[in-house]
Amino acid sequence: MNDSSKTPVLVTGAAGFIGHAVSARLIERGESVIGIDNLNDYYDPALKAARLDNLNALDRFYFVEMDISDADDVKALVQENGVQRIIHLAAQAGVRYSIENPFAYQKSNLQGHLSLLEASRHAAGFRHLVYASSSSVYGDKPMGGVGFTEDDPVNEPVSLYAATKRSCELMSQSYAKLYGFPQTGLRFFTVYGPWGRPDMAYFGFTGKILAGEPIEVYGEGKMARDFTYIDDIVDGILGALDHPPEPHHHRILNIGDSRPVGLMDMIRALEDALGIEAEKIMRPMQPGDVTSTYADVSRLHALTGYAPKVMLEDGLKQFVRWYRDFYGNLPPT
Ligand SMILES: NC(=O)c1ccc[n+]([C@@H]2O[C@H](COP(=O)([O-])OP(=O)(O)OC[C@H]3O[C@@H](n4cnc5c(N)ncnc54)[C@H](O)[C@@H]3O)[C@@H](O)[C@H]2O)c1
Repeated sequence: MNDSSKTPVLVTGAAGFIGHAVSARLIERGESVIGIDNLNDYYDPALKAARLDNLNALDRFYFVEMDISDADDVKALVQENGVQRIIHLAAQAGVRYSIENPFAYQKSNLQGHLSLLEASRHAAGFRHLVYASSSSVYGDKPMGGVGFTEDDPVNEPVSLYAATKRSCELMSQSYAKLYGFPQTGLRFFTVYGPWGRPDMAYFGFTGKILAGEPIEVYGEGKMARDFTYIDDIVDGILGALDHPPEPHHHRILNIGDSRPVGLMDMIRALEDALGIEAEKIMRPMQPGDVTSTYADVSRLHALTGYAPKVMLEDGLKQFVRWYRDFYGNLPPT
């Protein structure tokens, strides 16, 4: 514990997959956490409520239901509680959802990010805003090449989600120059694990395999992803939080696993964890999907010692154990 633990950390999206895990770890290390979330129904709100139950059972966790696009509410909350550090994770995630619901991305990702920037700017003694970006800003890269570095070009987003995440980075860049408070944008690569997101492939596959239904494998299974276990991601987020850049600096860091796994290998590992072989239906690529994303994390490593530890096979076993416990072995409806 250090001095900074005397002021609470604000975590946005605290009922979400990553926000829940980050909040729990902050409390474990002796900090106070104010969590905000609008508990929207993009995916099963019962899962968000269950995550929140976990957090509400902990000392020093305070939840406020709030929409981050309400700039005045966010600013008042930050000021009234003397918040000096923020981990901003609330966002409208997903790529395919944007085809039907484009304005959800504008409200949560663009306006929401601006609310957090304004709140940080007006907070007394503000020290660090850490926010979630995404590997999707890189667009596509063929399999087998080297991983993405932060210096790679990012100027051709292939989805609205990616466009909003890149826009957040640019807004942050301008605020760092104009107002000087330190910021770190983290480009997350696919995160998985217990309490994960039902809209992600490994999660949906698990429900289908357990129900004896076939799974649809998009991109003919040729996609590769950098699957990062939730505990490793939390290590990286807190490492970044504890090492703010100099004032007037905005830093963007990759946060991933650096060991890309092909979709078919991921499915094999999941089948092993479940002890069931899946029936697979091969499908072509979907709009907005990219074939391969994985991270070069040497900058985050140099800065914080970040080194992901959990192998996909082990992480998926943990996920399956949680899933069976949470859903009683039945897929969610
Ligand atoms: N999980 C991944 O693999 C991954 C990959 C790349 C980037 N990210 C980014 O990391 C962050 C966290 O992702 P996650 O996987 O935990 O997602 P999540 O959807 O589980 O969590 C996001 C939370 O934010 C809340 N939220 C959304 N809009 C809000 C609003 N307007 N006001 C208040 N709360 C709002 C949601 O209710 C949800 O609980 C997101 O910014 C996401 O874009 C995640």
